[in-house]
Amino acid sequence: MSTNTAPSTNETPVLEALHLRKEFPLHTIKLFGPPQAIHAVEDASLALRPGHATALVGESGSGKTTVARLLARLYAPTAGSIRYREEIVRTRGEAALRSYRRHVQMVFQDPFSSLNPMHMVRYHLSRPLRIYGHAHGAAEETRLIMSLLERVNLTPAEQFVSKFPHQLSGGQRQRVAIARALAARPSVLLADEPVSMLDVSIRLDILNLLARLKEEENLALLFITHDLASARYFAEETQVMYAGQMVEGGPSEEVIQRPQHPYTQLLLSAAPDPDRFGSVDQHQQDDGKGSPRIQMILPASGSGELPSLITPPGGCRFHPRCPHAMPVCRQQFPPRTELGGGHWIHCFLYGAENAQSGEVKGKFGGWPQEVRLQRGVRPRRMNE
Ligand SMILES: Nc1ncnc2c1ncn2[C@@H]1O[C@H](COP(=O)(O)OP(=O)(O)OP(=O)(O)O)[C@@H](O)[C@H]1O
Ligand code: SF4
Ligand SMILES: [Mg+2]
Repeated sequence: MSTNTAPSTNETPVLEALHLRKEFPLHTIKLFGPPQAIHAVEDASLALRPGHATALVGESGSGKTTVARLLARLYAPTAGSIRYREEIVRTRGEAALRSYRRHVQMVFQDPFSSLNPMHMVRYHLSRPLRIYGHAHGAAEETRLIMSLLERVNLTPAEQFVSKFPHQLSGGQRQRVAIARALAARPSVLLADEPVSMLDVSIRLDILNLLARLKEEENLALLFITHDLASARYFAEETQVMYAGQMVEGGPSEEVIQRPQHPYTQLLLSAAPDPDRFGSVDQHQQDDGKGSPRIQMILPASGSGELPSLITPPGGCRFHPRCPHAMPVCRQQFPPRTELGGGHWIHCFLYGAENAQSGEVKGKFGGWPQEVRLQRGVRPRRMNE
């Protein structure tokens, strides 16, 4: 089987997900049949490289957070493996987990709940410094805390060190959460929608901060987002997920400007205006409310929602919504096809080995009339 891990740069990945699968068992009483589970992630692969951001996009429930939590070893995978610096990660026991998390840190979506309201900023930053053995003595600890606060632009640092979370704004709290992650001196940062709960006016500041830290610290960054404009703005690479399956990926510019997978095309057609991809700033001004949460709706049948992940559709999970679906799409997940320039796709419309693709490839007629999107935007045709 092919993988999603072919590099778009020559740099060796620092962290790789290899065919990860995650099922959450359902603890319901069922008299007949096998026990049920939520099939949240199916065969997900990705590679993170130093100084390089990879965006993971997809609608709500597609499995983005689950992938990040698998990579952070907050969840154990049902199948598949994780490779850190080319070695398979085996994290049995507290010590092994702690050593792994020293290298792979996560920033959560909600800066309100990710900080302990009972403790001051000093506590949140001193803890990782102590746990990972970076501070030797009180004076060094204080110096490192001040330096961390300055690196995330919380200055003058003395004003912030003794504050409780409730005395900070949302943006300041997220900066503390980022500083806490940096305190471990990680080589990988997993940022799960780090700006989606923040005020629109400060989102760009936090994205710029993450971009600067990525450069300065040579961090490998996973950036989870619903917003394709910020994926293009922020990440060199973008991967698109649908119902637990990776469907398309490659250089962000290529994937977002020239999407090839029917799902990516639908996702992009939900964007209010193609010109918004000029800049995040511009988009925010245009929209007034910031990034829309992308969600598609199909009328009548209700099939516009993500399929059930308890009994997911076989083969390509997008087939119940795809206007190009063929019999083979219901039977097997399409292999990965390289489109050139690091752009890849899982779709039977592409690839010489996909017998039926020859007739269909390049003949996208766009989306049928009955497909509507939440914001009332007609899906864009390929040639528009
Ligand atoms: N701990 C859990 N136990 C059971 N099911 C879970 C758990 N975590 C996630 N799921 C399920 O797995 C699926 C994928 O969820 P996940 O949170 O990864 O999606 P997501 O793409 O991050 O969505 P969103 O954009 O809304 O954050 C969902 O159906 C969700 O209900
Ligand atoms: S594999 Fe088939 S169902 Fe899936 S996106 Fe491609 S054409 Fe549509
Ligand atoms: Mg999520």
